[in-house]
Amino acid sequence: MEEILRMEHITKRFGDMYANRDINLDIRKGEVHTLLGENGAGKSTLMNVLIGLYQPTEGKIFLNGQEVRIDSPAKAVQLGIGMVHQHFMLVEAMTVFENIILGDRQAKGVFIQKEQRRREILALAEKYGLDVQLDKLITDISVGEQQRVEILKALYRGAELLILDEPTAALTDLEVEGLFAIIGKLTGEGKSVVFISHKMREVLRISDRITILRAGETVCTVDRANASAGELASLMMGRELAPSHYEKKENPERQVVVLEHVDYNKTAKHSGLSDVSLTIGAGEILGIAGVDGNGQSQLAQLITGVITPDAGRVDLKNSKVAKFMPQAFIEEGVSHIPEDRNKMGLVGDMSVKENILLKSTGLPRFSRFGGMFLKKKAMKDYALEMQEKYDIRCASIEQEARSLSGGNQQKIILARELEARPDILIAVHPTRGLDIGATRFIHDTMIEARESGCGVLLISADFDEILEMSDRIIVMFEGQVMGEYSGKNPPVEEISLAMAGK
Ligand SMILES: Nc1ncnc2c1ncn2[C@@H]1O[C@H](COP(=O)(O)OP(=O)(O)O)[C@@H](O)[C@H]1O
Ligand SMILES: [Mg+2]
Repeated sequence: MEEILRMEHITKRFGDMYANRDINLDIRKGEVHTLLGENGAGKSTLMNVLIGLYQPTEGKIFLNGQEVRIDSPAKAVQLGIGMVHQHFMLVEAMTVFENIILGDRQAKGVFIQKEQRRREILALAEKYGLDVQLDKLITDISVGEQQRVEILKALYRGAELLILDEPTAALTDLEVEGLFAIIGKLTGEGKSVVFISHKMREVLRISDRITILRAGETVCTVDRANASAGELASLMMGRELAPSHYEKKENPERQVVVLEHVDYNKTAKHSGLSDVSLTIGAGEILGIAGVDGNGQSQLAQLITGVITPDAGRVDLKNSKVAKFMPQAFIEEGVSHIPEDRNKMGLVGDMSVKENILLKSTGLPRFSRFGGMFLKKKAMKDYALEMQEKYDIRCASIEQEARSLSGGNQQKIILARELEARPDILIAVHPTRGLDIGATRFIHDTMIEARESGCGVLLISADFDEILEMSDRIIVMFEGQVMGEYSGKNPPVEEISLAMAGK
């Protein structure tokens, strides 16, 4: 395949920090070229250099053999390079159509032209299987559709090289399949795709070649055909990660959570619970498998006291719950790793230290007279201890929590929730979007909680994670329990079918 683009000796410094150091990368026509690397490896920076958002400190870029200077995103567009950023850049209050033509100089003008543009856009959408509704507002469409709008927008501007920065992070499994089909069509038409991800299974499926970045440098480029998941993982991390093998437990001695015939909003297929009965044992991990949006969120909300069931019985540690209030559940020893860590798990503009201490400032250890006088030194020492224990990587514990990477934010939540020594832990998508190193840390920590007698409910759309971690597995579909399976040699095929409601 012919080379269309080459980046040579690219270095990008922010102050003293090398985000990219002497990186070489070449992209061929019609290939899917993956950039693989842990959080902070320099993948987004390198692509932001390529689309002219950043100027490289050093290095050159060649397009079809000719050196080019890409000094602005407009220049990149002109050269046929488009990027879909991890956080979309659409205007929420505008329609899909308006967003696609936004900033496109030719689009200014009369109505006739507008009609023609619509036809062109629809034809493009049709060609690549990009299912979008042109007249909907961005706020009213799903994340998956917003992503298709971004792709369509780039194609409409004539992108021959399309960069997708962690495009699967926010998608459901089904949406990922759709995206992969679109990528297949693009490369089939001779376009090239740079795919950024740290999910090994996806990478091995979709890539033609894989370039591994670590700590701002290129480790190597390999053909997919010669790559294995284990090898890629160690190249990415710079160390071997022994395969995890968690022992499965059976028959817990006592139950810490019992649900009997619980209904909640039961006519709603995707946001209700219908006749749900289940138990969570002390020292056991119960995994809930299922496609997102089949009642899992409601299950988590129920066992953390956020919502009240319409019917049925909920017992925590052998006594019936009378009041469904989050505070009451916290007092019963329920900890929660919430689904959306930015909205519910952390206060972004508070510091790492404050977030770690969020639930414990009233404890005698940290205050006198129930929070009136704070013991500042004790608080700081404790936060530092937690930073070390949970391997929270930040410049300082006074740093705003929002400025940390996803993995490190998640570790703050773990520190806060697990140090409360919970009897019950509700973990919802605890490793979504995290790299392998951070994922392993969180898995190990959950196993430790289990070993100390905590009953863990693990909700995850990542089937591999459910299989790896669960002592017992329950499948949910449209708010109902479809089946229950042992975590030892679970019948994978049967579970997959149950997840699809069969
Ligand atoms: N605008 C910026 N200013 C300062 N540091 C930055 C900036 N953008 C990225 N970095 C730093 O550069 C490094 C690489 O970041 P990034 O390219 O976002 O990594 P990746 O996309 O692989 O997760 C990180 O340490 C990050 O904190
Ligand atoms: Mg990135």
